[in-house]
Amino acid sequence: MNSPLTQGTGWLPGDVALITGGGSGIGRALALRFLAEGASVAIVGRDLDKLADTVAAAGEAADRILPIAADVTSTDDMHRAVAETITRFGRLDILVPNAGIWDYNRSITRLTGQQLSDSFDEVFAINVKGYLLTVEAAWRELVESRGCVVMTLSNASFYPAGGGPVYTASKHADRGLLLQLAYELAPKVRVNGVAVGGMRTNLRGPSATGLADRSIADSFDRNDTSGNNPLLPLHDVSVEPEDYTGPYVLLASRRNSSTITGSIVNADGGIAARGFQTAAGGDDL
Ligand SMILES: NC(=O)c1ccc[n+]([C@@H]2O[C@H](COP(=O)([O-])OP(=O)(O)OC[C@H]3O[C@@H](n4cnc5c(N)ncnc54)[C@H](O)[C@@H]3O)[C@@H](O)[C@H]2O)c1
Repeated sequence: MNSPLTQGTGWLPGDVALITGGGSGIGRALALRFLAEGASVAIVGRDLDKLADTVAAAGEAADRILPIAADVTSTDDMHRAVAETITRFGRLDILVPNAGIWDYNRSITRLTGQQLSDSFDEVFAINVKGYLLTVEAAWRELVESRGCVVMTLSNASFYPAGGGPVYTASKHADRGLLLQLAYELAPKVRVNGVAVGGMRTNLRGPSATGLADRSIADSFDRNDTSGNNPLLPLHDVSVEPEDYTGPYVLLASRRNSSTITGSIVNADGGIAARGFQTAAGGDDL
């Protein structure tokens, strides 16, 4: 993606976006891509220091990016984040619920009931409640602008083995949320999603299972998952977050997606064409 970070030449000229989890991974890549497409961007994360890295990467477009410290599990934080976005940029056109955590494929057979209970609460609070509260805080502004929501979904929104039962259930829940909100907010707000596949990011796990400081990139280094992705050879060694940003731009663009709502682009490299290349889940029982 080589377009300059200048306004007026891209697919999102003059739009204002709010992206949760914008300090790293796909959220960071999306913030930079949206700037390049002509938008202004508010990025939300718990830690302002982490968001500063995305702001620094914006370079000459730094005046069009606003970092906001907020936790997606707090409705007060998310209402404040939307209010700060409006104060700074005057409108909100594109909302990207994206902040999430993973469960590191922890199977039901490897966790106690208490660990499952605690990690369920932690993962669902961010991955599902966080998406819902993000949309709740923003829908009035999106109605005003006739804007849209583009959610980050996952291969785990469609298939097993992209996580354990807690993560897979959370990403299936996000898919249900997307459909219900597309129904409730039509015709004024479009609600779509991009089901991204695996990528080396800092995606963390729940503290309930001691995984809050692990990063998914370490798992990729340990396990060869390339067999899951028929398109991986096109990407040399691994798929990078910026490789996933195109479908978000398409779905965010009024001009190019005015007829699309309740839809999900499967951008997982073609898992449906091959299936997961792993042993059966119960092999180690
Ligand atoms: N990395 C993958 O292989 C992969 C695959 C499929 C889907 N996804 C999805 O992509 C999305 C982004 O993940 P990523 O891979 O870019 O990882 P990442 O860890 O780099 O990005 C997630 C961001 O969310 C932030 N965050 C977490 N909890 C938060 C909270 N309570 N409030 C505010 N911010 C919070 C984190 O600080 C981080 O910046 C997630 O929804 C994830 O489920 C990732």
